[in-house]
Amino acid sequence: MQTNRREFLRSTFWMGAAAATAGITCGKARAEANCPSGSMMGWADKPFKTLRVGVVGLGRGALGLDLAKIPGVKITAVCDLNKARIDRALARCAKHANPAPRVFTGGQEEWKRMCDWDQVDLVYNGTPWELHAPIALYAMEHGKHVVIEVPSALTIDECWALVKTSERTRRHCMQLENCCYGETEMLALNMCRQGLFGTLVHGEGAYIHDLREYCYGKFDPEKGSGGYWDYWRMRYNREHGGNQYPTHGLGPICIDMDINRGDNFDYLVSVDSLQAGFQEYGKGKFGDGSQEASWKVKMADMNTTIVKTKLGRTIMVQHNITGPRPYSRINLISGTKGILQDYPLRIALETELGAGVHKYDDKVTAELRQKYRHPLWKTAGEYAKVHGGHGGMDFLMLLRLAWCLQMGLPLDMNVYDLAAWCSLNELTERSAANRGRSMDVPDFTGGAWKTQKPWGFDDVDLAKMGLDLKVPKA
Ligand SMILES: NC(=O)c1ccc[n+]([C@@H]2O[C@H](COP(=O)([O-])OP(=O)(O)OC[C@H]3O[C@@H](n4cnc5c(N)ncnc54)[C@H](O)[C@@H]3O)[C@@H](O)[C@H]2O)c1
Repeated sequence: MQTNRREFLRSTFWMGAAAATAGITCGKARAEANCPSGSMMGWADKPFKTLRVGVVGLGRGALGLDLAKIPGVKITAVCDLNKARIDRALARCAKHANPAPRVFTGGQEEWKRMCDWDQVDLVYNGTPWELHAPIALYAMEHGKHVVIEVPSALTIDECWALVKTSERTRRHCMQLENCCYGETEMLALNMCRQGLFGTLVHGEGAYIHDLREYCYGKFDPEKGSGGYWDYWRMRYNREHGGNQYPTHGLGPICIDMDINRGDNFDYLVSVDSLQAGFQEYGKGKFGDGSQEASWKVKMADMNTTIVKTKLGRTIMVQHNITGPRPYSRINLISGTKGILQDYPLRIALETELGAGVHKYDDKVTAELRQKYRHPLWKTAGEYAKVHGGHGGMDFLMLLRLAWCLQMGLPLDMNVYDLAAWCSLNELTERSAANRGRSMDVPDFTGGAWKTQKPWGFDDVDLAKMGLDLKVPKA
């Protein structure tokens, strides 16, 4: 990759150290109370009647393209290095009557030209990890709001640079943590907000997903399919330990626990297991003596981290992509009056099952699941299942993003959420490399977490958005 990340970050980071305090625009009254001077807490831009989106990185999911299904949103630009993927993106836009987007391709830094273009309001960054922060920083410096795939930052320096640049430029910088919109995650959130689990004490999340085939797979440029483009993920896996993909499991628990809005991370400890899964797979599939078999991998088969919060709660987060384990994000949240955990879903509340509960009850779980379905899922869950991937959560995230920008509301997740969640990338690696030494987590909010109230993750009005609920078309 041509962009020298270190140079780029050095040049943008301290430029933003003195965040501008003037010109803060808060959306609604609720947001104003949440918008301290200079901070991006509760910040909202003017409503966008038409939202013009540039999508860079048109990979397997290319979730951002589904924004073309939402009235008032136009994909005006797409950027990628691969022709097959660009052609596929253009076909998807045409299918949704989105006029042909301008194509930026032909060089590693064509995304800069896209960010410079005045027909883009929002940059949707779905590139490999190492390009996340550089593109986001450049986009904000050039007046664009930016949303970034997970993990949006890989180092503490990147986290700070994104925070300071977002504050100074008054541009949104949101991490696209689609799992916060999962059906179970939102059920848990709804139950937490109603206090049904009592005082929250502990959460557990994970990214357990067998990615051996993808990570070792070869990308086919003709078809635009196969493994990850240019082995980008495997390269990172080979060079780093710790939890490289913490946010799918962690993000929803942070929303439940009001991290950055009443509570905050304090410190963490992290331990890596040995690495055997990738090495054995490489040898088994490609044979001794092959290039793949010779790859040394730093990433552990299992990384386990415990984060302690300022209010004394604990969050356990795991990462495992190298073995034959069925997919799981764990999704466990527990308090003084009950617990919810997933894979499969089980819920126990003292109010339903009495004190001294020892067993889950499938019937009670089914009833509670129905009763406390999140309002957003009631409104748009079935619609989202038809229109987007990952069981509907991808499209719900896009719906909320479009709704907030169209209504001039703060986004559900802001740059402080991004920074706190992504800080685990570097901190877990450093802790695990030092026998699980405790690492302090920076307070990216500058103390604002103490006075913030939870917001966001509300409903949308599909009719007001011009979406016809009765005619779900993929
Ligand atoms: N939230 C989720 O559920 C989810 C799911 C899949 C992937 N992701 C994230 O999405 C991102 C991409 O993953 P993927 O699976 O699509 O990877 P991929 O390898 O399939 O696609 C990456 C794309 O980026 C393009 N690209 C690389 N360098 C570029 C450059 N300089 N300019 C323009 N385009 C460039 C490649 O040509 C390729 O099309 C990653 O951050 C990943 O973590 C998130």
